Amino acid sequence: MSHNLLKGKRGIIFGALDERSIAWKVAQVAHAEGASFTLTNAPIALRMGTINKLAEECNAEIIPADATSVEDLENLFTKSMEVLGGKIDFVLHSIGMSPNVRKGKDYGDLNYDWLMKTLDVSAISFHKVMQTAEKLDAMNEWGSIMALSYIAAQRTFPDYSDMAHAKAMLESIARSYGERFARLKKVRVNTISQSPTMTTAGTGVGGFDVFYDYADKMSPLGNASAEDCAKYCVMYFSDFTRMVTMQNLMHDGGFSTSGITDRLIEDLKKDN
Ligand code: NAI
Repeated sequence: MSHNLLKGKRGIIFGALDERSIAWKVAQVAHAEGASFTLTNAPIALRMGTINKLAEECNAEIIPADATSVEDLENLFTKSMEVLGGKIDFVLHSIGMSPNVRKGKDYGDLNYDWLMKTLDVSAISFHKVMQTAEKLDAMNEWGSIMALSYIAAQRTFPDYSDMAHAKAMLESIARSYGERFARLKKVRVNTISQSPTMTTAGTGVGGFDVFYDYADKMSPLGNASAEDCAKYCVMYFSDFTRMVTMQNLMHDGGFSTSGITDRLIEDLKKDN
């Protein structure tokens, strides 16, 4: 059911790789809520993914951009404003990748070149997106910029490895750029800290199934789905959240404030 929450708004959505991607669901909900937007991903992901299907469904143009390349980002913002017919109201940064995690490198044996890549792709790219938007004066006043984070920014989850550092930096960038963009342009910047979700990036983390099951049982409402994340995100692109900025917003079924839950106690009793 649509509420026309984003009627007349223009956006850029990064990170839709396939139907499981959180960005894919955000695009579907944003479209249903009346937004027009461009879709973007790294050129290699565009070749591997099925984004054309989503673009057709949402009547959206695809503009390739490696989010670590300022040149690509300049082209993306300039073309998006041309295609959409004006400045941008919302941006979703839904990007994460760690070569150390992907290649199974132990945390005590990190490849530091890969660590730099993790930080550049998963965190610094967020700064690059916002700095480019500011320099091109591409954002409308009261615009909204969102990135996706994970609670490993605050608590240790060993298999998350160097992605934990990327998420801590991502949330820090949201606060610092949020202060700047609010002052300059009344643009808000936030992160959503999402439950474990069965996507390509998610399932790439070692022991993901156990992790997913544990989080589900530790969350009174259960793990939040990608669909629910998309709805929450779209609310933050809407005018109903104009005064929320520089926040890390927990979207986790209650995980982050639970000590223990009945479902976990039942499991532990079975083991004893
Ligand atoms: P996904 O694998 O569908 O999306 C990750 C996206 O990042 C892909 O579309 C990929 O092509 C893109 N990407 C990688 N390198 C890029 C680059 N250089 N330039 C542009 N795009 C690039 O997985 P998912 O889960 O939808 O991930 C989206 C975001 O949600 C990520 O930030 C992830 O860390 C975050 N997140 C995911 C959780 C999960 O359990 N799946 C939990 C909490 C947060």
